[in-house]
Amino acid sequence: MDHKHITDDPEIGNKAEAYEAFDDIPTNPNLEATIGDVINARYGRRDLLRGMLGVSAAASLFGSSALIAPQRALAADARNSRYRFDELTQGNDQTHHIAAGYDAEVLLRWGDPITADAPEFDVMNQSAAAQLQQFGYNNDYVGFTPLNEQGTRGLLCVNHEYTNEEVMFPGLGRQDKQGFAGMTKELIDIEMAAHGGTVVEIARDAAGKWSLVRNSAYNRRITPLHTEMIIDGPAAGHKRMQTKTDATGKAVIGTLNNCAGGMTPWGTWLMAEENFHGYFWTDNRDSNGKADLSAHADTASKKRYGIPSGWYAWGQYYDRFNIDKDPNESNRFGWVVEVDPRSPNSKPVKHTALGRFRHEGCETTISTTGKLVVYMGDDNRFDYQYKYVSNGTVSRSGGANSELLSDGTLYVARFDADGTVHWLPLVHGEGPLTAENGFASQADVLIDTRLAADALGATPMDRPEDAQPRGDGTAYIMLTNNTRRKTDQINAANPRAKNAFGHIIEIKEEAGDHAATSGTWSILVSCGDPDLAEVGAQWNPQTSESGWFSSPDNCAFDAQGRLWIATDQGRKWGKTGKSDGLYALETEGDLRGHSKLFFRCPVGAELCGPYFTEDSETLFLAVQHPGTDGTKSLKGFARASTFEDPATRWPDFDPKMPPRPSVLVVTKTGGGKIAF
Ligand code: FEO
Ligand code: CA
Repeated sequence: MDHKHITDDPEIGNKAEAYEAFDDIPTNPNLEATIGDVINARYGRRDLLRGMLGVSAAASLFGSSALIAPQRALAADARNSRYRFDELTQGNDQTHHIAAGYDAEVLLRWGDPITADAPEFDVMNQSAAAQLQQFGYNNDYVGFTPLNEQGTRGLLCVNHEYTNEEVMFPGLGRQDKQGFAGMTKELIDIEMAAHGGTVVEIARDAAGKWSLVRNSAYNRRITPLHTEMIIDGPAAGHKRMQTKTDATGKAVIGTLNNCAGGMTPWGTWLMAEENFHGYFWTDNRDSNGKADLSAHADTASKKRYGIPSGWYAWGQYYDRFNIDKDPNESNRFGWVVEVDPRSPNSKPVKHTALGRFRHEGCETTISTTGKLVVYMGDDNRFDYQYKYVSNGTVSRSGGANSELLSDGTLYVARFDADGTVHWLPLVHGEGPLTAENGFASQADVLIDTRLAADALGATPMDRPEDAQPRGDGTAYIMLTNNTRRKTDQINAANPRAKNAFGHIIEIKEEAGDHAATSGTWSILVSCGDPDLAEVGAQWNPQTSESGWFSSPDNCAFDAQGRLWIATDQGRKWGKTGKSDGLYALETEGDLRGHSKLFFRCPVGAELCGPYFTEDSETLFLAVQHPGTDGTKSLKGFARASTFEDPATRWPDFDPKMPPRPSVLVVTKTGGGKIAF
């Protein structure tokens, strides 16, 4: 792909948007195999060519009530909803908004000191040493594990996905447009120190207010700059995992692009490594900027993952991020990392048994027979939905449970047109996963998870983001969008061509058992504006004008097992005119498919987290990259943000401070359970 072409596009306002556009190019070569798929047999080609499902097909998916055009109110009438709050009105402006009767307070901001001796944040004089003791950038996943029975003390675990240099550092501007000429090693070290994760102890006082316990011994940063990690599982030690600095293939420094994640039943934290390809560099590019991989032994593997992409200039200063100098380091990223937050000196572990791809999330549950099950999406256009099932069972006694993440079976999903889903095992020697096809061992199958899943005939999806399993054998899969899907590439589970707004699939595993190798699936909602026929959206007709959404991304259950959805529309939020936010989405009964707006972000941000404490009295939300995405669509601003001139200075609104990614804590005013 021609980088220069992408970064010079005047519609694109920042680096993250530029690489989102670059990443619009799918790497899955198997799309031909799905052409026409069974959707044609099930619904008929004519309906599909009209850009929406036919009446009979839609009725069979959503019930006939979904087809009656409602008089859409601006906000929902809450009386029938199981979620008890007055709906927030949609919009987009410089600050966040929450439904009446709730408080959303800033708990942690980028740069906040998290250890007793950490320096105060000085945005004009940043250093890597300071950042290693301060809250990182672009908070994404948030998890919580209590330290006492009342749940008034606990450890907050937060992923820091990536950095935006043009709003983070003064005077730099868009570095992707100038070959990263302004990126010194000093700045790169700060970027690296701002990636990764944070563990902090937090406590709730008698008045119900949560705050950081700054002198807690648990507080730590995990980064790609300084954190030693262990590689375990079937790929550990394999020659493709060995590098210039690590002959064992079992030790690696750090983790990066940690997007969504999960907490295990035994209180450890799983960090998903998502867009790892973006950190690998090459000096061997042609005049169009295209990487020359001809000297590499694993060209097909690197191409399938999009390596190298050169989103960051780390490879100019660190040989391990330059594939010309250390071709195997990229094999040591793209995994799920387990951290024990109760053991602040413990080395995090990369569990290769869970596969290598652009891991979006890794939410866990326990099967009916006590096995650990992890649902994981591979966030790329036309990539796949996975799950992992342990061989052993979860015990109540902590530590030994981590072995469950080293010994088990990884599966990839095939969604059939008859409404069944089949989980195909990625096991060396089974089916096409043999030496003749390039998989000499289970290590090869896992290092090349995508190629193995291609060989098995998995269903190419519309960008699988987070997935959330519920204890009853149900799981919800967020398909955020995929405008690259052509009409002849649709399939039953991804039925819209040019899917700009995404959809959500509900899986019901066989006999309610998350370890089952098959189940049934249905589409819970097809997102976008229900009043525009060409969008082909499907919502419960009682959904208000404020309630429908686009681009589902992260999700969570509350204490009642009710589903909440966080959105990420990227630079295209102007298409809906709505900020990203948090929505309460009904999955049961007459209101199935009914959505209601609870919280919305400041302009340019996406919403991550969300995480409910077990008592449902506290909700953590992560507001990521405020003031950046699509700010050309903000009326009265209409330009790209920079450090000096951002679209918002949320949350401080201090004229000397740029916008700061922050974690918010949401409580009901005066106390009580949220939305009960
Ligand atoms: Fe980091 Fe797929 O969102
Ligand atoms: Ca995400």
